[in-house]
Amino acid sequence: MSVFELIDIDKEFKNGRNVEKILKSVDLKLKEGELTALTGPSGSGKSTLLTIAACLQKKSDGIIKFNGQDISKESDGKIRNIRAEKFGFVFQQAHLVPFLTVKEQLELMLDTANVKLDKKDRKIDKVLEAVDLSNHKDSYPESLSGGEKQRAAIARAIIHDPEILFADEPTASLDSKRSKEVMELIKSLSAKLGITVLMVTHDMDMLEYADSRVEMKDGQITAVE
Ligand SMILES: Nc1ncnc2c1ncn2[C@@H]1O[C@H](COP(=O)(O)OP(=O)(O)O)[C@@H](O)[C@H]1O
Ligand SMILES: [Mg+2]
Repeated sequence: MSVFELIDIDKEFKNGRNVEKILKSVDLKLKEGELTALTGPSGSGKSTLLTIAACLQKKSDGIIKFNGQDISKESDGKIRNIRAEKFGFVFQQAHLVPFLTVKEQLELMLDTANVKLDKKDRKIDKVLEAVDLSNHKDSYPESLSGGEKQRAAIARAIIHDPEILFADEPTASLDSKRSKEVMELIKSLSAKLGITVLMVTHDMDMLEYADSRVEMKDGQITAVE
């Protein structure tokens, strides 16, 4: 079953008098619980497609179906809630708040997602254990290594039990050993928690973790496997 579907997505940017078509009739289906990798050369439109799917920017045309409904037709407030409650995000950089501890970053996310948990601490402990950061609960970002920062960012991305995880080159700033660790983590979280993952990656080594692959070129899907 596909939980998430992009249908005939177009994206244009106006550049003075010119209109640049960055995405051209893109169709993409994500299967529930699967990890889909989106690859393609730099500038092919991967990040644009990912941010449109995640409702972080607007499409020019097309349909974004989440659990059978076109969410792009919803109000801004409703879209905000879907993003905060149902989606998780990981980017190339961890983007942790420098003056909050690892635990506090996760608390902040639970508040943003309106999660009412009387056992917040236990939830945080569980997620930190899953990303192997239990011993860094009270650490500030500056004392974490690159791989640890990215694992903290992954913990923050899944603390509210999202249905879809959007990841844009999550391993691009890590060496190959840390990249593998982060990918194994994303893969195991997806398998254990049933999270559907859309991941942009440049790195061919990371493709082995994907259940399916989609390739883009010049704003169009060129291959699906
Ligand atoms: N806000 C924007 N305004 C104008 N052009 C943009 C904007 N965002 C992206 N682009 C252009 O869209 C194309 C695809 O960019 P992007 O989605 O970032 O590619 P990728 O992630 O595959 O490297 C690039 O040519 C980029 O310059
Ligand atoms: Mg990109």
